Order: sequence, then C-alpha cells, then structure tokens
Amino acid sequence: MTASTDTGVAVVTGGGSGIGRACADALAAAGHRVAVLDLSPGTSGPHHPVVADVTSTASLAAAVAEVERALGPVSVVVHAAGISGPWQGLLDLPESTWNQIMDVNAGGTFRVCKALLPGMVERGYGRVVLVASVAGKEGSALLPAYSASKAAVIALAKALGKDLATSGVLVNAVTPAGIDAGMTHENSPEIQDTMRAAIPMGRLGTAQEVAALVAWLASPACSFSTGAVFDLSGGRSTH
Ligand SMILES: NC(=O)c1ccc[n+]([C@@H]2O[C@H](COP(=O)([O-])OP(=O)(O)OC[C@H]3O[C@@H](n4cnc5c(N)ncnc54)[C@H](O)[C@@H]3O)[C@@H](O)[C@H]2O)c1
Repeated sequence: MTASTDTGVAVVTGGGSGIGRACADALAAAGHRVAVLDLSPGTSGPHHPVVADVTSTASLAAAVAEVERALGPVSVVVHAAGISGPWQGLLDLPESTWNQIMDVNAGGTFRVCKALLPGMVERGYGRVVLVASVAGKEGSALLPAYSASKAAVIALAKALGKDLATSGVLVNAVTPAGIDAGMTHENSPEIQDTMRAAIPMGRLGTAQEVAALVAWLASPACSFSTGAVFDLSGGRSTH
C-alpha cells in the first residue's frame, strides 16, 4: 500500500501480527513510513522490520537508533506489543507469571514511551496511541494480571496526556473488547464464544476496525484529544 503524501515515520510495536500489523498497514496507507518493532517483526510486506524486546531498555534504544538511521525521526508511536498470559484466576496465578505479564504490558509501555517520546517532545509534534483493553476497565475474572497491566496502560495514557498537553505530543489509549485476530485465536472456541456473548453487537471486532480508529488518533486530525480512552467494544463498555 502506498500513499501520495509522506506523513512521516511511524513506529508500531507488536506490528509483527494481529492488531499491530493491521495498524501498520493502515498507517502506511495514510502515508507513513512504518517501522515494526517486535520480537518477531516478520519480513514480508512494506514495513521496516526491527527486532526489539519491550522488556529491555537496551533493545529499545538500539531499535530506535535503527529506525532513525533507516527512516528518520519518529512522529507517531502505536504501542500494541503485549501478552495475555494463561486464562486462570488470581488464586492459581504464579507470581512469576504475574511479573512477566506486568513487565511486558505495563513495563513495556513505560519503556517504549521513555525511548521514543523525548525526541517527539523536542521536535514539538507527536501522536502516541497505546493499545490497552476493555479488561483494563472492567477486570476479567480469569485474566487478573492482564487486566491490571492494561489498567496501568490506561492510567499511563491519562497521566502522560496531561503531562505533555502543551508539548504538541498527544497521548491516547484504545480499549478493544474481543477482536477476531492475534491473541484471540490462541483461545479455545468456548472462550471465544464467551467473549462474543459479552458484546452487545454479538460479534468480535476486527483488527481493521481497531486500526481505523488508531490511524485517526495518529493523525493531525486528532487535535483536541489527549489522555483520553477510546472505546472499541461493540457496546460492551459503558464508561
Ligand atoms: N485480540 C484481542 O482481542 C485484543 C483485545 C484487546 C486488546 N488487545 C491488545 O492488542 C495488542 C495486540 O494484540 P493481538 O491480539 O494483535 O496479539 P498478537 O499476539 O497477535 O500481537 C502481539 C504482538 O506483540 C509481540 N510481543 C509480545 N511480547 C513482546 C515483547 N516483549 N517485545 C516486543 N514484542 C512483543 C508479539 O510478538 C506479537 O507480534 C495487545 O497489546 C493486546 O493486549 C487485543
């Protein structure tokens, strides 16, 4: 996909698959030169693949240096890298699993923002979209660490949005319910049915529906929203 106007460099973490990949495609269609930062960034498609681990500050620093060398300064960040962990209640959850999920989802968001936002603030422009989850608003009984980590992502978007409100860098979060892509496909048909049943529209969302909202939040057209949380839940979320 190519667009006629170059709209700058976008980094998509977790862009190797699922929702992140759909976001990378949508941003490329909107004219961005896109770098995909992922443990497995893939080699196909038009995006610049960079191996990166969001649990490592050093890995992210090297990845950002590679993006700037290859594509130039970054003006858009979509942070979609994340893991759900196993479906089990807190009483059965090992501390090591809790730590891993918090490290990837909450710690990863902290590290990605620390690696990329200072340059954007210095240049006076940026659009940052953090992919959280409806689980971070509602709490999912069998995803306690995931729910807590995504609540952290939502709170970080709110805090950063306020902190950077006059900098030209806008920070927003999206909170999808069950999406027919990525980690959902690792779940059993029974779990997918449960996810679907919780959604008033009676269906899962698509990665492209998430990407369409993310692309708008990543554009200059998004100009009076920051520290905000955007619903993508087919009517499930009421707040
Ligand atoms: N699928 C859904 O129903 C759903 C719903 C709400 C929110 N989300 C969120 O959307 C985002 C994308 O999820 P998805 O469904 O596309 O899943 P996915 O597994 O297809 O994508 C996640 C990507 O993150 C990458 N990743 C994992 N750990 C990493 C690390 N340490 N460093 C770098 N990259 C890492 C994976 O390699 C993968 O490509 C996640 O943050 C997820 O929590 C998904």
